[in-house]
Amino acid sequence: MEQSKQANDSNRSSKDRLIIFDTTLRDGEQAPGFKMDSQEKLRLAEAIARLGVDVIEAGFPAASPGDFESVREISAQIRSTSIAALARCHEPDIERSWEALSAAEKPRIHVFLATSAIHREYKLKMAKGEILRRTAESVAFARKLCPDVEFSAEDAARTEPEFLSEVIEAAIEAGASTVNIPDTVGYAVPEEFAELINQVRARVRNIEQAIISVHCHDDLGMAVANSLAAVSAGARQVECTINGIGERAGNCSLEEIAMAVRTRPQIYGVITSIDSTKLCATSRLLTSITGVQVQPNKAIVGANAFAHEAGIHQHGVMQHRETYEIMRAEDVGFTGEQLVLGKHSGRHALMKRVNELGFDINEEDAAQLFVNFKNLADKKPQILDADLEALLLDLTHVQRGPWSLATMQCSSGTESMPTVSVRLQHTDGSTKQEAAVGDGPVDATFKAILRAAGLDDGSSTASLADYGVRSLTTGEDAQGQATVHCEYQGSVLRGRGLSTDIIEASAHAFIDVVNQIESKSSAGRGEAEWQSKNPSTSGTTAS
Ligand code: KIV
Ligand code: ZN
Repeated sequence: MEQSKQANDSNRSSKDRLIIFDTTLRDGEQAPGFKMDSQEKLRLAEAIARLGVDVIEAGFPAASPGDFESVREISAQIRSTSIAALARCHEPDIERSWEALSAAEKPRIHVFLATSAIHREYKLKMAKGEILRRTAESVAFARKLCPDVEFSAEDAARTEPEFLSEVIEAAIEAGASTVNIPDTVGYAVPEEFAELINQVRARVRNIEQAIISVHCHDDLGMAVANSLAAVSAGARQVECTINGIGERAGNCSLEEIAMAVRTRPQIYGVITSIDSTKLCATSRLLTSITGVQVQPNKAIVGANAFAHEAGIHQHGVMQHRETYEIMRAEDVGFTGEQLVLGKHSGRHALMKRVNELGFDINEEDAAQLFVNFKNLADKKPQILDADLEALLLDLTHVQRGPWSLATMQCSSGTESMPTVSVRLQHTDGSTKQEAAVGDGPVDATFKAILRAAGLDDGSSTASLADYGVRSLTTGEDAQGQATVHCEYQGSVLRGRGLSTDIIEASAHAFIDVVNQIESKSSAGRGEAEWQSKNPSTSGTTAS
């Protein structure tokens, strides 16, 4: 009774409120190339919380000890936002999620079970009756632990609407206050998906006691369109990710859904609590952490999203901005190549610009930023917004192992073999110097680093899977950001480095990988031990 009253109240107040449920750290992080360590996840979670989302899905605690720890850490640190943890419909999974959420101010357990015929027959090997029973039992179990329970019917978009409605009714009856209808494989099209929501609303007798949520994948490029169609049909929670990252083609993009409902209020009639001016900074924080860029033509946050190249467009915008612009660049926190600061700028001016860019940093980080800013200003007299953002994002970069670059020398030319010598500093105080020749200066740098770190004996070979350098601004003195992906023992390790010298940036990025190799072996041993004690959770993934 109490629960139904609460849900009704929240339904009433949520008539025009769209709940934004961010799953960047769970569904997004599951995708290849987007793995983050717990420090990176916490930084990103803080930025996502500042963006104003209602719920952060912080991870899937039963999947690994790393996931468990980061849900725990985020729950302890982030107080203003609901923190959700995913669990299969298994009591040990649910208990594990609850344990990870123990410090959360506003915890949510999110349980899921597949409902479609294809999943029932081939994956779960369960009949409809068993799905109904497991749903009701698991939601009831989660509800005994946590006041806020969400149930997801995995592959709902390919489930018979009658059966889906039965499952949802059972979940609400057992205590779920949010019922999620995912298009797990990105198969739906907008009209059909809206019709499914209508059917659920018409068939499920207790639907008024819960919020309808949607979670759309982008396999046919329709995740945002499907989510919007569902909102028009009455869904009041959208699950989405920064930059639309996620399994396969990704999820509904947070920035696109937030700006669509904001730009077309007369169509959707809902508001969100997203601070749109922080969208670009949050998107860039994610790209900087993962090293995966968004395409230039990406809506809202792509580099070209507000660029007008054609003369006729430029002329139109100069005459009257709205001829070709439906949103203002500043409303999404988009900044071009603005000259902001110079060598003589003080800490106050620096911090003012930091805040204008949508960042909020603590005293310790501000002090470090000022030192890094002055060092950069010595090499580069004009500091642009992009430079400042790179310095800010570099603060997120924790050293992941014992080595750092002390010094390096590089010589290369058309007539000589590229030769690099590096001196690495170990956290135990020792240093190691080595030199190597290579096919190019970058290759020579990597070889010299492997040698200095004692990893060139073939026993711990990492193979280079991807390497890139990108200039953060234009001009000869622009900072370069290097990204290195290496395959090592079946997983991909990602390193990044920043410098006005691209060979030095590459060295920092590769040392980042070497550090992870060093710490991975001990962490790997711990994880193997944990998996052997928890055999039921091995191979845990969600869509
Ligand atoms: O895509 C999906 O169905 C999911 C669920 C676990 C919500 O990610
Ligand atoms: Zn998903």
